[in-house]
Formats: sequence, structure tokens, C-alpha cells
Amino acid sequence: MEGVVIRRMTYADLQEVCEIENKSFTMPWSLYSFKYELSHEDAIMEAALLEGRIIGYICMRVIFNAAHILNIAVLPEFRRLGVGSALLQSALKKLGELRPDIDTITLEVRESGITAIRFYEKFGFMATGRRRHYYQSPKEDAIIMEKKFG
Ligand code: ACO
Repeated sequence: MEGVVIRRMTYADLQEVCEIENKSFTMPWSLYSFKYELSHEDAIMEAALLEGRIIGYICMRVIFNAAHILNIAVLPEFRRLGVGSALLQSALKKLGELRPDIDTITLEVRESGITAIRFYEKFGFMATGRRRHYYQSPKEDAIIMEKKFG
């Protein structure tokens, strides 16, 4: 999307990030969760800005030998305009620079999260398993998706 800038997320962004999070999920991450992720050396946290306003973000972290996409959301009025794709591409580029040794990227998504599943499929992620009753509010299974990297 024209005019969108992707840059590293900072602590100063977190209030706006939490507003998007609250609009996007029935069980949103807390401010503390975002702070905790930002404090991790192995975290890749990116924000998308349009005219100085945050309109989306992605959180990825390397745990042992795999990169985990922990969270991604775009403000509802800016969805389907390529912002999520730009965030994911930016995070994957950083991952390649920081950890070229990583060979797998994985994530969990709600079974009912068809939009997110389609989004990840477009980038070559495939469903590889299921975690029973992984989510609350509503109780639901998680679909595990994976993609080879590198
Ligand atoms: N229906 C079908 N396919 C879709 C849709 C949709 N509503 N939205 C995106 N896609 C797919 C399409 O293949 C699309 O490509 P196309 O437009 O060329 O057809 C592709 O994804 C890329 O779309 P973007 O515009 O880049 O995605 P967007 O900026 O809308 O962000 C996101 C996608 C982040 C999933 C957004 O819909 C969102 O914020 N959803 C709510 C939060 C959420 O569910 N996050 C994922 C949770 S799982 C996790 O974080 C690990």
C-alpha cells in the first residue's frame, strides 16, 4: 500500500499497538505481553505506519531452531490492502539477516480464522497439525502451520 512505512516496533508504539490488538482478537495480548516480547533479543517486532499512525504490526521470535510468528494484525479499515504482506515480508527479510541458520517458520491460528489461514497459505505455509482446545473465548482448536525457510 502506497505511503506505508515498515520499521522496528518500539515501546512508545505500544498504546496504539494495543488498540489494534483489542480490535482484532477476542483474547487480546496485554500491554505486558508486548513489552515482554520487545525485551527479547531474538524477537522481530515490526510496525506498519501510514502518515505516522500505526496501522499494523507483526511479532516473531526464534525459539530453539524455529522461528515462531506469534502475532500479526492490521487495523480493520486497512485490511486487504497488502499491509499484512508487507509486514510478513519485512519480518522474513530480517529473520534471514539475523538468523540464516533457521530452517522452519511455524505458527498457530484459530481453526475459524479462515482469513489468516488464507493469508499464510499465500506465503507457502501449510497446515501440519492441530492443538486441541488451545484457545479460550471461544474454546477452539489451533491449526499449526509451517513453512520451510532458507
Ligand atoms: N479473505 C481471503 N483471503 C484473504 C483475506 C480475506 N478477507 N485477507 C487476506 N487474504 C489473503 C489473500 O490471499 C491476500 O492476497 P490478495 O489480496 O492478493 O488476494 C493475502 O492474504 C494478503 O493480504 P494482505 O492484504 O496483505 O493482508 P492484510 O493486510 O489484510 O492482513 C491479516 C492479513 C493480518 C491476517 C488481517 O486480516 C488481520 O489483521 N486479521 C485479524 C487478526 C488475525 O487474525 N491475525 C492472525 C492471527 S494468527 C497469528 O498471529 C499467528
